[in-house]
Amino acid sequence: MAARILAARVDDIPDGEAIVIPRNLLGTVDDVALFRDGGEYFALDNTCSHELASLADGWVENGTVECPLHTGKFCLRDGKVLSAPADADVVAHDVEVIGDEILIVPNPERLA
Ligand code: FES
Repeated sequence: MAARILAARVDDIPDGEAIVIPRNLLGTVDDVALFRDGGEYFALDNTCSHELASLADGWVENGTVECPLHTGKFCLRDGKVLSAPADADVVAHDVEVIGDEILIVPNPERLA
């Protein structure tokens, strides 16, 4: 079973926003954007699949994030690309909430 890593507490992220969890905490190859959307939490690789932009700085709405640089859109739940100019998915990581703790289970494909 993959390690679960304490990444944040629920009050650390306002609804509709995200914070960056550093790769050296998670042991991943990219930083991870941890999103809060309508009371649910989602984690994606932070770097957009199109160019170098931080998805944590994007626009969160209805289960999606819109990249702040060229407005490519991704599904928060699975990282699937939903609109151009991005044409590749970003990797999603599992998230568990226990009490007020948000734990990330890094995707094994993205461990450093
Ligand atoms: Fe994200 Fe271009 S950098 S859509």
